[in-house]
Amino acid sequence: MNPFIFGEVVKDASFINRKAELEAIVKDLSDCQKMFLIAPRRYGKTSLLLIF
Ligand SMILES: Nc1ncnc2c1ncn2[C@@H]1O[C@H](COP(=O)(O)OP(=O)(O)O)[C@@H](O)[C@H]1O
Ligand SMILES: [Mg+2]
Repeated sequence: MNPFIFGEVVKDASFINRKAELEAIVKDLSDCQKMFLIAPRRYGKTSLLLIF
């Protein structure tokens, strides 16, 4: 069985790293900054935002 999730939102322990990105999002939103999250498909944008 493939231990990696591919093609859907990844959650909890399956979601790895992105620590710096999470900190940057928390900081910008705490400062009431507008934010655009731009990346190619399947780079983890949806997973990153849903991890909150
Ligand atoms: N931080 C991450 N940890 C593990 N897998 C990831 C991560 N970010 C993306 N992936 C992989 O990319 C796939 C697509 O993620 P998704 O959040 O749907 O991306 P996007 O919204 O940018 O298209 C996931 O199913 C997973 O295989
Ligand atoms: Mg998405």
